[in-house]
Amino acid sequence: MSNAPGGRVSSLVRFCWSNQGTCGKALLMAQEYRLILKHIDSEGYTPGLDSYVRHGGYETLRKTLLLEPKIISADRTVGAPEQIRNEVKISGLRGRGGAGFSCGLKWSFVDRKSGKPIYLICNADESEPGTFKDRQIIYKDPHQLIEGMVISCFANDVKLAFIYIRGEMPDGAQILNRALEEARSKNFLGKNILGSGYDLEIHVHRGAGAYICGEETGLIESIEGKRPYPRIKPPYFPAVLGLYMCPTIVNNVETLCAVKHIVEMGGAEYARLGTPNNTGTRIVSISGHVQKPGYYEIQVGHATIRELIYDFAGGLREGRTLKAVIPGGSSAKVFKAGERFKLKKRGSDAKESEEEIDMLDLPYDFDSLMAAGSMSGSSAIIVMDDSTDIVEALANISEFYAHESCGQCTPCREGSLWMSKALNRLASGDGRKEDADYLLTIADNIPGGRTICAFGEACSWPVQSFVRKFKDEFEAKGAAAEDRRAAGGATEADRISQVSTVK
Ligand SMILES: Cc1cc2nc3c(=O)[nH]c(=O)nc-3n(C[C@H](O)[C@H](O)[C@H](O)COP(=O)(O)O)c2cc1C
Ligand code: SF4
Repeated sequence: MSNAPGGRVSSLVRFCWSNQGTCGKALLMAQEYRLILKHIDSEGYTPGLDSYVRHGGYETLRKTLLLEPKIISADRTVGAPEQIRNEVKISGLRGRGGAGFSCGLKWSFVDRKSGKPIYLICNADESEPGTFKDRQIIYKDPHQLIEGMVISCFANDVKLAFIYIRGEMPDGAQILNRALEEARSKNFLGKNILGSGYDLEIHVHRGAGAYICGEETGLIESIEGKRPYPRIKPPYFPAVLGLYMCPTIVNNVETLCAVKHIVEMGGAEYARLGTPNNTGTRIVSISGHVQKPGYYEIQVGHATIRELIYDFAGGLREGRTLKAVIPGGSSAKVFKAGERFKLKKRGSDAKESEEEIDMLDLPYDFDSLMAAGSMSGSSAIIVMDDSTDIVEALANISEFYAHESCGQCTPCREGSLWMSKALNRLASGDGRKEDADYLLTIADNIPGGRTICAFGEACSWPVQSFVRKFKDEFEAKGAAAEDRRAAGGATEADRISQVSTVK
């Protein structure tokens, strides 16, 4: 079975338990479904315009710009932009950046009567640890993103748009700028696009390399040339008071690419992909202790975590067993191997029943992971086998969040730092048994509306879940350090400092 990145996973037969089919009937095993990644990594495909056009690129834009107004009734005509917005609504597309919010709904919130310009920003910050899907599009198929953006901008009467790319991806910015120049040269962008009378300009804006720039209002502040301090909502909902206090749409790279396919195939057809309320496809980044880390596009909910890890990513390393899985980027709550969940499922007779399943058998979709107490977030699975020191793993994650807090809110600024300090102390063998409870007290007091942005949740969820699910390991580390201290022995931290003093 080939499951290297870019390859297709061949069909195997399995029996289904899930809501995808009738139980007991043989089903094709989960397969990659390459819609957005269709050409990426295929032989001879390059990021250049010629390659994109040879593969049918910009044809959807051409058709979009030729769309005629639809007469609905004697006194109601629906223009082309509104038709596209309706298709996006019908498609059920949910944002691929993290929160999974309905794209059609977000677009419907845009204040179109303010008389102010409407802006669109493509969020290409992709800073959530474990996530590496958007950059595949940026580096290998930039015109797909540009076409998706031009269509989305046309649908929302946007004349100026931005791609906000994280500072650590200078090559990506260069590739995008080159692609934008190519698009301008063939009039897919700029004034009077393809003779339609529609004008649009897109600029690339490079961040300076901060995780919080991925949060949409921090990102907006950053484009405005300020520190990326997230804004309070309300009143600063981007759809009403966004960039330069004008209505603004912020969407993820993958979301905007999906729009192109929705317009191409129709919203209803797109909604047939995936599962109800979890429509379309999603690119999943898989990393950690697997044989074939990589990115894999699936129909949402058509593969379980088990299939993603063992069939797509080649399973664990030789002789290892599974310890934990983070299902949606480092801020998602961790699953412990062997954890079981009760999930509702609908049978072929439409009757609902409850089934208890192993964490690995959760279908990879927004709702199932949420029901299991975590999230699909930025669709990044991080796999940890039994060689993982769970305290060290969490110390590593928490150090990242402590470093990246913007510092505006006391619970987040202080709490993330306290958690990181306590975890580093524990990991270096200088902790206390009570550190586990101490960590939980801090982590439980940051989220829940106490902070300006969702970073408060992002830094607390890993601590809450790791410590609760692996409490014995945290307590054992603390107890061992206490015993060593009581016996007058050097702690690991002491030993490290002695070594560095000798040096
Ligand atoms: C701390 C934080 C970091 C975020 N980082 C990203 C990011 O790197 N990329 C992204 O698309 N969305 C990120 N988001 C989500 C954005 O705020 C926003 O919801 C998203 O870009 C909307 O696009 P979508 O609706 O297409 O998903 C982040 C959110 C938070 C709270
Ligand atoms: S929650 Fe944290 S990152 Fe977000 S605004 Fe407050 S301090 Fe900044």
